[in-house]
Amino acid sequence: MSLEGVTKTYGNFTALHATDLSVGEGEFVTLLGPSGCGKTTTLRLIGGFERTSSGRILISGEDMTSRPPYERPVNTVFQDYALFPHMSVSQNIAYGLSVKSNNVPGADRAARVTEALALVGLAGMADRRPEALSGGQRQRVAMARAIVRRPRVLLLDEPLSALDVKLREGMQVELKRLHRELGITFVMVTHDQTEALALSDRIVVMNQGRVAQIGSPTELYDNPSTPYVADFIGAANLLEAEAAGRDGALAAFRLGGTVVRSARVASAAVTGKAILGIRPERFLVSGTETANRLALTIKEVLFHGDRLRLELMLEGVDRPLFAELPRTALPPDSPIEPGAGIALHVEPSDILLFAGGSTA
Ligand SMILES: Nc1ncnc2c1ncn2[C@@H]1O[C@H](COP(=O)(O)OP(=O)(O)O)[C@@H](O)[C@H]1O
Ligand SMILES: [Mg+2]
Repeated sequence: MSLEGVTKTYGNFTALHATDLSVGEGEFVTLLGPSGCGKTTTLRLIGGFERTSSGRILISGEDMTSRPPYERPVNTVFQDYALFPHMSVSQNIAYGLSVKSNNVPGADRAARVTEALALVGLAGMADRRPEALSGGQRQRVAMARAIVRRPRVLLLDEPLSALDVKLREGMQVELKRLHRELGITFVMVTHDQTEALALSDRIVVMNQGRVAQIGSPTELYDNPSTPYVADFIGAANLLEAEAAGRDGALAAFRLGGTVVRSARVASAAVTGKAILGIRPERFLVSGTETANRLALTIKEVLFHGDRLRLELMLEGVDRPLFAELPRTALPPDSPIEPGAGIALHVEPSDILLFAGGSTA
């Protein structure tokens, strides 16, 4: 499935700027971004519920741009499920087969419904009404209704957002299993990075109607291309620094009163200001290391079970830094409390580097 230069405007407002996106057959791709960034708009364009302002949408090489929703090999699981309250579970699911342009003969329909129910783990619930189901079961009915027509592409708009946390984790596993068993393309929308990272082959990070970066969860986590992506996928301390020349394969930066070195440097000289990114979980408790050793003052300590989250101040830097450290790694005989000092270091390969007019 692909989008070619697709845009969507509402009056003067551009909800989606010219976007190219290519999704492989059977791939699980997630659109991720904050509320209002254009995720649902993109999904509705693929489903045919909105018309593109320009550009084309192709599925298996066929142009879908001007086809109505029911003539696209696509089904959608809507955020609110949109189940019919007056119909039973099986009637809700069979509804997907009764709409126009379906070639499923009447005799095959019951078997299709039974198969879909089994796939989502709802065998035996066929005669219930939606009101007699839990939130998680309703979610499964919505899934069954969307897959019963055997679409090539399944669109899912925040499919787990209405469920409580425990149930959501269970349904993540279910979604992954279903994707594998069906072998069809999934395009999911979420604002929850944990969900996106856990489920997706690739993630499309969006920001204000534009694609910020596309990559596998690992690529986005390890090599975010902008501070925005670094902070949205995982978390990052983003710090303004001043270039201080090269040191062999490393680039040196002045961060307040400390010099730190990053291995993430292009061949060009680094000059001027840059933004450095340090993930909270990449801080290490310093032993004898001298490279990238930061002498910090503890401002606040938050207990996170096996980890501590520390709010820290670095001399000459006015914003606090956050570090997450396993409790087992902490020095046993120095106090971890507000006001105390702690020395941490960060490997040069873990100092993310973003140009802020930095490369020349
Ligand atoms: N029918 C519409 N008319 C005008 N503006 C819209 C319409 N639908 C969405 N928008 C605007 O487009 C932007 C993106 O919306 P949406 O795609 O729903 O965001 P997301 O799903 O990422 O939260 C928002 O600013 C929203 O207000
Ligand atoms: Mg939305």
